[in-house]
Amino acid sequence: MAQLIKGGGGHGGGGGGGFMVLVAHVLAVAATAMVVVWCVHFRGGLALRSHNKQLIFNTHPVLMLIGLVVVAAEAILSYRSLSMISSSRDARKKTHLALHAVALALGGLGIYAVFKYHAEADIPNLYSLHSWIGIVTISLYALHWIVAFLTFFFPGASHNTRRSAVPWHALLGLLVFALAVGNAQLGFLEKLTFLQAPPLRLSRYGPEALLVNFTALVVLLLGVAVVLATANVDSTKYTAM
Ligand code: HEM
Ligand code: HEM
Repeated sequence: MAQLIKGGGGHGGGGGGGFMVLVAHVLAVAATAMVVVWCVHFRGGLALRSHNKQLIFNTHPVLMLIGLVVVAAEAILSYRSLSMISSSRDARKKTHLALHAVALALGGLGIYAVFKYHAEADIPNLYSLHSWIGIVTISLYALHWIVAFLTFFFPGASHNTRRSAVPWHALLGLLVFALAVGNAQLGFLEKLTFLQAPPLRLSRYGPEALLVNFTALVVLLLGVAVVLATANVDSTKYTAM
């Protein structure tokens, strides 16, 4: 199964893969713009310190989405995006690991923000499916980064170990990314459900509800585009035709 993901160095990004990389970039920009418009224009803005505790909450979706979904997507795609402008293998590897570090840092700050919001607004922690999957996702993301750093960068495993580890790294990396995309869906749904309940009773078909649902849809399509852009379909694997 791990063979499904291309592990070698030659990412030309040609044909459908190249088109999907482009689609993913466009969706990544759209998702970023949409979540910022939602939290700044409709929800009043962003702050890590404020008397208005809602502003502290607002930093959570923005940082989680830009970190664990958008920057993570760009990190995953970097081998293919950068091969189109022909950078060296070493530069691509450093870009990939640095972008994943930025994603992790933004995600960590986003989790800190929502715990701070809960503490200051006197709301209990870790009561929802979204929060449980969220803790598992950020922990796996950090673990994956550390293991990959030790294996592929410093001190670096032997050539044979790296060769057999790379398809597993790519497959497990995509799975962690898929968890982040799925959990963002749960987060948008949960927040919109809160907003539609009393006392706010946000309109079910109003502009804000549509924006939140369409943002989640764009995020889902971004996840699909990243998986399609990195999958390496191999017809020789199938024997039962
Ligand atoms: C994509 C990665 C995301 C991760 C890993 C994540 C993680 C978490 C975690 C761990 C908590 C629990 C905080 C606590 O118990 O004090 C939480 C809370 C929350 N998150 Fe997210 N989140 C993500 C994205 C989002 C998005 C995009 C939204 C959209 C609005 C969102 C909405 C919420 C809400 C409403 C809460 C408070 C209620 C609750 O604890 O379930 N999250 N998140
Ligand atoms: C949580 C963090 C990470 C995730 C989610 C992740 C995910 C991925 C994915 C999905 C691929 C396949 C890309 C493709 O097929 O085009 C990949 C390739 C790779 N990653 Fe990571 N990665 C992470 C961190 C790291 C780190 C820290 C390193 C350290 C150098 C690293 C080294 C590599 C290497 C060497 C490849 C193979 C590139 C090639 O095809 O030659 N990754 N990663």
